[in-house]
Amino acid sequence: MEAERVGERLLITGGAGFIGRHLTHALLRRGHYVRILDSLIEQVHANGAPPSGLHADAELRIGDVRDASAVRSALEGIDKVVHLAAEVGVGQSMYAVDRYVSVNDLGTAVLFQQLIDQPVRRVVMASSMSIYGEGLYRDTDGRLVQDAVRLPRMGAVGWDPVDRQGRPLVPAPTPEWKQPALASVYAITKYAQERLTLTLAPAYGMEGVALRLWNAYGPGQALSNPYTGVLAIFASRLHNNQPPMIFEDGLQRRDFVHVEDVAQAFMLALEHPRAPGGVFNIASGDDRTVSDVAVLLAAAMGRPGVAPEITGKARAGDIRHCIPDIGLAQEVLGYSARRDFTEGLVELAEWVAQQQAVDRVQHARRELEARGLVA
Ligand code: UD1
Repeated sequence: MEAERVGERLLITGGAGFIGRHLTHALLRRGHYVRILDSLIEQVHANGAPPSGLHADAELRIGDVRDASAVRSALEGIDKVVHLAAEVGVGQSMYAVDRYVSVNDLGTAVLFQQLIDQPVRRVVMASSMSIYGEGLYRDTDGRLVQDAVRLPRMGAVGWDPVDRQGRPLVPAPTPEWKQPALASVYAITKYAQERLTLTLAPAYGMEGVALRLWNAYGPGQALSNPYTGVLAIFASRLHNNQPPMIFEDGLQRRDFVHVEDVAQAFMLALEHPRAPGGVFNIASGDDRTVSDVAVLLAAAMGRPGVAPEITGKARAGDIRHCIPDIGLAQEVLGYSARRDFTEGLVELAEWVAQQQAVDRVQHARRELEARGLVA
């Protein structure tokens, strides 16, 4: 699809991160100007240094999205904003509560406070599938169930949610109309970000769009950040000849979407005339179990003998299954996931082989365990 207007000036908050860097490349290729506002947090960017994959033609401003004056000056001359700046670990959000609420929600509030004075045409924010909590399920009579919940200490009775009569439920594709079920602090903050965007943008003559992302993966993922991104976590373990550690029984399902497909979705959300006011699921449309992914990744990394360790323990705030319905993004935005997962894993493995990944997974797990958040 053609851009409405080439050479737009875009601001990407958190643009030095994994998704932002890929999106920056795609936007520059289309002739846009890209400015990045990023605080280069230590957990993602070792030593607070700009990452190597950051395109030299992007303008990088180092600053915090909660800093009103940094945001004000970053917005000067900007046509559209992509809001990616956020803390992104579900498990970590359950104890670093003030940090997550502050960066994610106060950050979005500060951004909009400044946008009131300096409005742009469109704001596209990165929301998350986490806001659904458990996805949609079907019961044994074929009826859709929206309010599946996990019982405490699920392991003893099986990990999958059951209906009110204790009968099994089967995951069904989850569309955007499913009501939110906010099961982690991270999810709460993402939902607030989404609502702030979709409420404030139109109130001030701007267009707001929210993309609910499933599990993004690909080269450039933060390998040494043990708090999110199961593929990066597993890759970092395997790279250091350690077995991936799997929560629960490993049969929880996730949809892994290649970061280039995510970047494509942002481009469409920025340019498409039918995007404004919308929330769209962005995923590959192809779900698989965490265990299968661990085995496939070990093979792709040339370590087929390293069997994952199934811990039988659950991480607080995790959901069991949420598989996506991407029909709306396909129909309205013309989105389609182009990248094949098996090829994507090979590409990820090749990239990991060239990296120095510090394995901090045990450390992260101890932090959760010390607070009773893995049981
Ligand atoms: C969560 C959010 C997602 C968000 C992403 C990044 C939910 C349901 N999803 O994804 O919207 O975009 O964080 O912020 O809240 N796992 C292991 N071993 C590990 C690490 C993880 O088995 O060492 C398991 C987890 O228990 C989980 C799955 O792998 O079942 C995926 O975990 P992770 O990559 O952290 O992402 P989500 O929690 O799915």
